[in-house]
Amino acid sequence: MSDRNKLCCRQPGVIWQKGKVMPRNIVVTSALPYANGPIHIGHLVEYLQTDIWVRFHKLCGNRCLYFCADDTHGTPIMITARKEGISPEGLIERVHKEHQKDFSDFFVEFDNYYSTHSPENKSFSELIFNRLNEAGAIARRNIRQPYCEGCKMSLPDRYIRGVCPRCNAEDQYGDSCEICSATYQPTDLINPYCSTCGATPVLRTSEHYFFKLADYEPQLKQLITEGYTQKSVANKLDEWFDTGLKDWDISRDGPYFGFKIPGEENKFFYVWLDAPIGYMASVKNYCDNNGLDFDEVWNGDKYELYHFIGKDIMYFHALFWPAMLIGSGFKTADKLFVHGFLTVNGQKMSKSRGTFIKASTYLKHLDPEHLRYYYASKLTAGIEDIDLSIEDFVNKINSNLVGKFANLASRSGPMLAKKLDGRLGQLDTEGKGLVAKLLNAKGRIVENFENLNYAAAVRIIASLADEANRYVEQNQPWATIKTDIEKTRTTLTAVINAVRILTVYLKPILPKYAEKVERFLNIGPLTLDDIETVLQGHRINDFQHLFERIEKEQVDAMIEESKETGGTKTMTDESVEPIKPECTVDDFAKIDLRIAKVVKAEPVEGADKLLRLQLDVGGEQKSVLAAIAQAYKLENLTDKIVIYFANLKPRTMRFGTSEGMILAAGSGGKDIFMLGADAGARPGQQVS
Ligand code: 2FM
Ligand code: ZN
Repeated sequence: MSDRNKLCCRQPGVIWQKGKVMPRNIVVTSALPYANGPIHIGHLVEYLQTDIWVRFHKLCGNRCLYFCADDTHGTPIMITARKEGISPEGLIERVHKEHQKDFSDFFVEFDNYYSTHSPENKSFSELIFNRLNEAGAIARRNIRQPYCEGCKMSLPDRYIRGVCPRCNAEDQYGDSCEICSATYQPTDLINPYCSTCGATPVLRTSEHYFFKLADYEPQLKQLITEGYTQKSVANKLDEWFDTGLKDWDISRDGPYFGFKIPGEENKFFYVWLDAPIGYMASVKNYCDNNGLDFDEVWNGDKYELYHFIGKDIMYFHALFWPAMLIGSGFKTADKLFVHGFLTVNGQKMSKSRGTFIKASTYLKHLDPEHLRYYYASKLTAGIEDIDLSIEDFVNKINSNLVGKFANLASRSGPMLAKKLDGRLGQLDTEGKGLVAKLLNAKGRIVENFENLNYAAAVRIIASLADEANRYVEQNQPWATIKTDIEKTRTTLTAVINAVRILTVYLKPILPKYAEKVERFLNIGPLTLDDIETVLQGHRINDFQHLFERIEKEQVDAMIEESKETGGTKTMTDESVEPIKPECTVDDFAKIDLRIAKVVKAEPVEGADKLLRLQLDVGGEQKSVLAAIAQAYKLENLTDKIVIYFANLKPRTMRFGTSEGMILAAGSGGKDIFMLGADAGARPGQQVS
């Protein structure tokens, strides 16, 4: 079995690999967030998952360093800055501060939070590119690509819109159709236009640089066989191997916000080339500032290296990135940990539902440790999505954090301080039994943290808290305090030791809670090593309150605020929604809007988003295709009064002809709302 596969059985602080005795030296990274949008609760799944792992290793006594940076290059950043009337440098500097604040407010503790727009990253990007070039892994060839003469720039697929070549739906992106799900090349679009300025793109020939990924197929397969990533990810990778690895276009023509390719005047590295190199840049910057040798930390075998990422960027991290490292003589990570997405109440995060919640909005209403605990209670090592169910969230925080952990401390601390001079006694047999039970679970808890099964660790810790609360019930200190002071001291000594042990277990998840408990127990920072050291005859400090209950109203207010402000969606090449070309009042006046009544609604075969509506538009009937199938039930549509775009030229689509359009608004899917008028409105009547 390779060292990678053995990872999960390694115990901290013991001889574990290649004959070395150590606390382990570990380097950990999380994916670099784009520098043009705020951190939201979806991002936080990964940063909290990673931070818990890093804190767990520190608790075990390992040297664990956590690195990240802002991902600062690319067209979306350039365009966002342009829209804000600032330079890209100004934008990324502002966002860097915002991101750092959000992370620190959630107690995500990086050893270095750097930027891909840095001298270290430039130098590594050039070095890696040059080495790959020397190794014959870079090809150059001409490609024809869309160019906007209005914006004077090459257009990424998402900046081109037009009519879908498959189903004729209007206004679709340059790479895929939201109506029929077809994927295609931007050159296949009918009537394409630049989504920034409206000009028709022209095709320009330009020489691009390609990384010959397929050259590294054997090494990549070997890496994956050795356990580079989880089984479910490996299965997906197999599909990609079966389809065949393609050359990767790593250059972009200027204007582009990024690093110039050596020897070129107007060509830049594609953002995804220098983004993962940003991990190295962050490590290098840290090493230089802390007297460490980068080659030893990144490239030697003294340090283990782990990347945490989401499943949307597996291709980059499981194929391109290790191939780039192998080709340029750098070490690849020991393991890539991939997690799933966040859903809220079982659905994708949505601005209209108010579930697209920014980190800063969350913090105005709720405690960051509530989210840390909730995510931990749901996280496993799998790539399945995790769901934040609001009801479950409120219940879990109130019943576990408040009802189990904080309760245990508040049932023992104040009584000890007020009535027993804050002094612990000795454990009796029963107390020793309780402590032993709690200590016995250490191995299982450690193993679950190490293997990213936080949900299992939390379940065990919560059941131990139940055990300790049962001990309190049985010994009734509130009653014995009136009759037998020393018996009560003995009972509370056991309870305080239970609090201490549970706090060690919870410390990676709840660092602030742990700090409060350490202050109240009058002890130094807890570690896993001293978990067995029982507190006896020790004086504790005054109790301090640990957790507040959450009221449903707080969560509702947070959701309400997220609806109003709407989280700004991070714009990437994949998700930009630019403003369409300008139109005049005269253009607008050409639109003739009428009242129409739905006479019949029927499904459209082969298009699960479309319905065919038969409309009474005042004396005559028209047939219209509308993408509302996920939002409306057929039976609820008959007799509905809607607003109809009456003079839209009929369009023939793959699914038939549509004679006009009905007006609707919403964020898509189930959230589409047809605009209507009062029920008395007469079909054919003009809408003003
Ligand atoms: O998908 C994203 O949000 C990218 N900014 C992640 C980059 S991770 C690494 F490669 F830099
Ligand atoms: Zn343009």
